Parts: sequence; structure tokens; C-alpha cells
Amino acid sequence: MGPHSSQDFTAHWAKHELGEVVVSAKEIQARVKELGAQITKDYASNPPLLVCVLKGAANFMTELMHAIELPVTIDFMAVSSYGAATKTSGVVRIVKDLDADIANRDVLIVEDVVDSGLTLNYLRQYLGSRNPRSLDVCALLLKEGEQRVEQELKYVGFSIPPEFVVGYGLDVNERYRNLDAIYTFTGTP
Ligand code: IMP
Ligand code: MG
Repeated sequence: MGPHSSQDFTAHWAKHELGEVVVSAKEIQARVKELGAQITKDYASNPPLLVCVLKGAANFMTELMHAIELPVTIDFMAVSSYGAATKTSGVVRIVKDLDADIANRDVLIVEDVVDSGLTLNYLRQYLGSRNPRSLDVCALLLKEGEQRVEQELKYVGFSIPPEFVVGYGLDVNERYRNLDAIYTFTGTP
């Protein structure tokens, strides 16, 4: 099984810059349903405020909230940590803050990928200072062995090898967010 041999490889228009399918569209859909069911159970008596970290988690957030059978509320934050490169700088900048007051709320941060963990670590401290009742994380992807900050992640979709990936919200220079599966990126950033 080499690159592009997977049956669900349908992104012909991006093929020249993509390697292996790391997580297929079907696998993502199934896992998102499971995560939604688990969150539905865990938060049954306290529907959470879902905080989507833009832009990478937008795709995941949309499908995850469909799978949660509770009256959740949603909000969005935008942070910038990478610039145009593919490795983190460790410097996090808040580009868009929350609209909602999170004091005494059960907050669930919805993230696309935890790589070094620096972005999430910063976000947790930033939001934690506003006195939420609980503050937890649902990350679609966790890169194995890359964390520079130990993270407690309540929900993780998939653990993946420490390679740069694109698709299902994840970008390289803002491209390939619209792929429905997650692929390794083989082009030049
Ligand atoms: P961290 O601070 O190193 O954990 O990086 C987290 C952020 O970097 C994520 O929210 C993504 O926006 C971005 N990122 C990390 N790894 C990847 C990747 O493989 N592809 C695309 N974006 C990534
Ligand atoms: Mg990004």
C-alpha cells in the first residue's frame, strides 16, 4: 500500500502535494459520533459551552456539535501560533476573543491538533483565569511524542505520528482545509 492507494483517496486536485491518508473521512465520521455520544453522557446535567479554536477546528466543531444531543452553546476564538511555517514558534497571539462570559460555565475547548501543546497550554491559562466551572479539551488529533507541555486531554479523536498533516480543517498556508480526510503533506510549505 503506497501513497494514494487507499480507496477513499478522492482529492485528485490536491494529489501532487499529498502523501498517505492518515485518517480517512469514514474513520473521522465514526470517531466524531463516538466523541459526541461520550460528551452527551458526560455533560448530561450541565450542557457545555463549546469553544472552537479557529480556523483549524471549524470543521471538527461543526460535525461534533451535530453529534452532541444536548442544548450546547458555542463560541469561537482565534489564536495565531504558527505564522506561515510548519513548526510552532511557541508564541501565541489572541486574534479573536470569546463573546461569551464563561464564569461558572462548563467549557469544552475544541481543538484540531495538539502538537507541542504550547497553544493549548496558553489557552487554558487564559480561559482558566475567567473562573469557568470546568475547563476541558476535546482534540481531534494528538501528535505522539511531540508535547513540550504535558496536557490533560479529556477527549482525543486520534493519536497520529509526528508528521505535518493537512485536511479536515488543518492547513498549510491556509490551503487544504476543505479536504474531508487527513493526509500527510509532501509539498513545499
Ligand atoms: P502546538 O502549539 O504546537 O500544539 O500547535 C497547535 C496548532 O498548530 C494547531 O492548533 C494547528 O493550528 C497547528 N498545527 C500543528 N500541527 C499541525 C499540522 O500537522 N498541520 C497543520 N497545522 C498544525
Ligand atoms: Mg493552523
